[in-house]
This record gives sequence, structure tokens and C-alpha cells, in this order.
Amino acid sequence: MDAQNASQPSDESPSEAMLGIISGFLISRALYVLVKLGIPDLLQDQVKSAAELAEATHMHAPSLYRVLSVMVGIGVLAKDDNDHFGLTPLGTTMRKDVPGSLRAWALLQLGEGYYQTWGDILHTVETSETAFKHLFGMDVWQYRALHPEQSQLFDESMTNLINVFNQAILDGYDFSSVQQIVDVGGGNGSLLINLLKGNPHIKGVVFDAPHVVEGAKPRIEAAGLGDRCTVVGGDFFDSVPSRGDAYILSRVIHDWDDEHSIAILKNCRSVMSPEHKLLLVERVIPAHIDSSSKSRSVLVSDLNMMVIVGGRERSEAEYGALFEAAGFKLTRVIPTRSMMSIIEAVPV
Ligand SMILES: C[S@@+](CC[C@H](N)C(=O)[O-])C[C@H]1O[C@@H](n2cnc3c(N)ncnc32)[C@H](O)[C@@H]1O
Repeated sequence: MDAQNASQPSDESPSEAMLGIISGFLISRALYVLVKLGIPDLLQDQVKSAAELAEATHMHAPSLYRVLSVMVGIGVLAKDDNDHFGLTPLGTTMRKDVPGSLRAWALLQLGEGYYQTWGDILHTVETSETAFKHLFGMDVWQYRALHPEQSQLFDESMTNLINVFNQAILDGYDFSSVQQIVDVGGGNGSLLINLLKGNPHIKGVVFDAPHVVEGAKPRIEAAGLGDRCTVVGGDFFDSVPSRGDAYILSRVIHDWDDEHSIAILKNCRSVMSPEHKLLLVERVIPAHIDSSSKSRSVLVSDLNMMVIVGGRERSEAEYGALFEAAGFKLTRVIPTRSMMSIIEAVPV
């Protein structure tokens, strides 16, 4: 491999490219300030000066101006000749109520909990214990159950992210033969709501921790799906609901190490018959990794799983091995036009 040319755009020297990489977290935290202060929503359909934004957010105007200027430098904001700042299409993803909003994800990833945790990554590399547990004394799921505001932010992030991938996932699979689908770890129901809307013959069950599925009920009612979609609270390490002919687990298995993943999959297997289908929605680590943005995003997500939850992203072969250990056979991996793939398996 030509290591020198592997990752740098041609117009940057290796030192310049590396300086950019090193400053990554500075830029991320400056973005956090912008989002935490709600500035993208203050700039909806209008431009404002740093002084106006500072007054609205009770900040120090000259300092805020410097943050806003960095945002211009990375293409999140644009500045006109009158020193007024406005949102670019990139910056619009940081607004609250826009399709494809990544605001909640930015607050979660760049806020104190995850940010502090990533500061402790060396601990995980040294010991394999998640930095999250090392810092907070409990796993992330226990932490969220005790901190409703964090749980809400996480669920909102997952809803936003799944909405980014939703249509690609739903277009990527033929659900015509499915009658009843159980969304295991379905969060507040976003994927299932869209799936049922697009497939009027299907009934569904959202299964997740009790404090999480509470958030699914009003969304299902609001979508007019109360008669086709039920909600079940529980623990997928104990059991999963038994009524499905298809089970979908979207971005659930990557949260867990092999031992826990196999336990979840075995609980699915125990309520499934040979003609039923198991579908995972996950990123798949490509056989050949390189410096493309596709490789990078799944590998960074893999590290995030390692540091925060103790899970991992996997290759097709690794999913095949998990399935085998849990009584399934991998039948196909269907890439979608998003970064997610649908990994289909059947009971054996
Ligand atoms: C990464 S989120 C994915 C949510 C959703 N499927 C999506 O794609 O947006 C993982 C989900 O697993 C749920 N979960 C974690 N531990 C669980 C458990 N022991 N029993 C049931 N659900 C659990 C979480 O509450 C969360 O909603």
C-alpha cells in the first residue's frame, strides 16, 4: 500500500493534514457551543450579528464572535459583508425540527458525558473496561435509566439518526411476505412507525426497556397506528415477545460484545420458527478497510462502541459467526443507499 498517499488530499502536506486531524476535537467542541446555545434555531431564515446572538444567549459577544468565525471556517455558517452570520445547508442539520436533524446527536456526543468519556479512551485500550463505566461506575443503560434527560436525548438522537437512514432501509427490503414484525430494542418506535405506514398489511410490536417504550406510545397514537402497533416493555436478556414472523434489531447488536449479542439472538431464536426471518440493521465493516469516508465512519463507530457501551461493529464473517452460535444462518447482506446494511438470517 502506498501509505504516503493513503489519506491526504493531494493539496495538503502530511503535516498540514495531521494538524487538521489533531484539531478535530477543538472544532467539535466549538460546534457543541453553537448547538448548546441553540444558535442554529435562532438563525432560522435570518442572519444575525454576533452581538445580537450574544444578547439572545447571554454570552460574551467578542468570544462568541470567535466561535462563530470558526463555524464559518468549517462551512457550518456563512458570514456576509455586514458581519452577519447565517446558516449553510451543513449548519441546518444542527436545527431542532428539520428532517435529518443531527442536533440531539451532537449534544449527546459532544456534551459532558461522552466527551469526558472519550478523554479516558486510554483506560479502555489498556483494560478493555468501557471508559464510561470507569468514570460513572455503571453502564450507560443503567445511567440513562437514572437520568431521564439523558435518556430522552439519546432516544431523540436515535430517532433523528434512524430517520436519516429510514427510507433507505425500508426501500432496501421486501416486507411483502411479513405479517407481524417485532422491533427488538425499537426505542421510541420511529423505524416501526415508518415501516407500518409503508406496509399497511403488517402489524408490529415495539419492544424495549419499560422507560423507553413509554416514549413510543404517544408517537404510535399520533401516527394513527394504535390498532396495528403494540408496545411491550421488558429486558431482551430475559425474553422477547413471541408473536412475530419477522424480528428486526436496528443498531442493537453493535451495542454488545459477542457473549451478550448471542444471548439476545438466542432469545429471539427461542420464539421463532424455521420460516421466520431475523433482520439486523447495522453498518458492516468492509473486508478491505481504507481511508474512504465509508470505512472511516464504521471504524470510528466501532471505537465509540468500545469506549461507551462495550460493543463493536462487525464484518459479515463476524455476523455469520454470531448467528451460528445463536442458532441462525446468515442468508444475505443487503447494502442500502445509506451507510446501514440489512443483514438477514433464518433459524436453523
Ligand atoms: C442504539 S439504540 C437503537 C434504537 C433503535 N432500534 C434505532 O435504531 O434507533 C439500542 C436500544 O436498545 C435498547 N436496550 C438496551 N438494553 C436493553 C434491554 N436489556 N432490553 C431491551 N432493550 C434494551 C435501548 O433502550 C435502545 O433503545
